[in-house]
Amino acid sequence: MESDFAKALRQTAELMDRELRDFLPLNEGLEQRLYEAMRYAVIAGGKRLRAFLVIQAADLFAVPRLHSTRVASALEIIHSYSLIHDDLPCMDDDDLRRGKPTVHKEFDEATAVLAGDALQSLAFEILGDAKTHSSAEVRIQLAARLARAIGVRGMAGGQAMDIYAEQDDIDILTITRLQRLKTGALISFACEAGAILGHASPPQAQALKAYAHDLGLAFQIADDILDTEGSPEELGKATGKDDDAGKVTFVSLMGLEEARVHAGMLVDQAIAHLDGFGPKADLLRDAARFTIERRN
Ligand code: IPE
Ligand code: IPE
Ligand code: MG
Ligand code: MG
Ligand code: MG
Repeated sequence: MESDFAKALRQTAELMDRELRDFLPLNEGLEQRLYEAMRYAVIAGGKRLRAFLVIQAADLFAVPRLHSTRVASALEIIHSYSLIHDDLPCMDDDDLRRGKPTVHKEFDEATAVLAGDALQSLAFEILGDAKTHSSAEVRIQLAARLARAIGVRGMAGGQAMDIYAEQDDIDILTITRLQRLKTGALISFACEAGAILGHASPPQAQALKAYAHDLGLAFQIADDILDTEGSPEELGKATGKDDDAGKVTFVSLMGLEEARVHAGMLVDQAIAHLDGFGPKADLLRDAARFTIERRN
């Protein structure tokens, strides 16, 4: 039987597909191909875990779903942009994503670069819209936090470290920082957004931040483990790529078993941070467990 968590995640994915379609219309004209590529990358695929975290974190503070859904959409749009660029030949050079050819394969490289650019700006357009929240202060805070999460002190910085890292000169501290930046920062934003929308108290915001901090790292360690032992059929993307590319990961540094233990410890820690929220944070607790138990 489907668990409460599996059901809620599935419903979030269905909701996102509907919402995102509205943000990604098709259009005619010379730029038609760009519209198509943007929609192709974002719709119908992905676990929508980041969206789930935004909505569940916001639910803790009874934020109207109308608001949290828009922020969740903006975040999934940013995440899809990051995947398009991550898959480019000059980055990870991947041909398969979410069970389909990557954007540069289905379209072409220039379109893939532009689709990423345009998706990034679309996300900020959504956050800046008064429909996302009536308070301009809240909207500015959301935009500023997201900007930071994906910039040089966040995702882009982490992606750069990922490219430059050499097996010999990297230790656990550096790989931790790398992964917190490239993947953790965006996941942290998901929870932070819920706290911003919900006007969380400083201790509540801090607890959610600590939860996301541990969860984000566990999530990327799990991704690295799946790259080693998952299958392309389940994952919808190629496997064994990190090893082939000589990527430094927790798995390459610690070995599979120790990486698994480390991720499990982070998940326990993440869950412990939610103690103050009581049973209403149960789905967030499940999300933390899912992060390392998932098969895709
Ligand atoms: C993949 O993220 C990229 C990483 C940060 C590891 P997800 O595993 O969340 O990808 P989708 O959205 O479900 O396809
Ligand atoms: C991707 O990490 C992180 C970002 C997109 C920022 P990976 O390169 O490990 O993700 P996959 O394995 O291609 O999904
Ligand atoms: Mg990568
Ligand atoms: Mg990649
Ligand atoms: Mg990976």
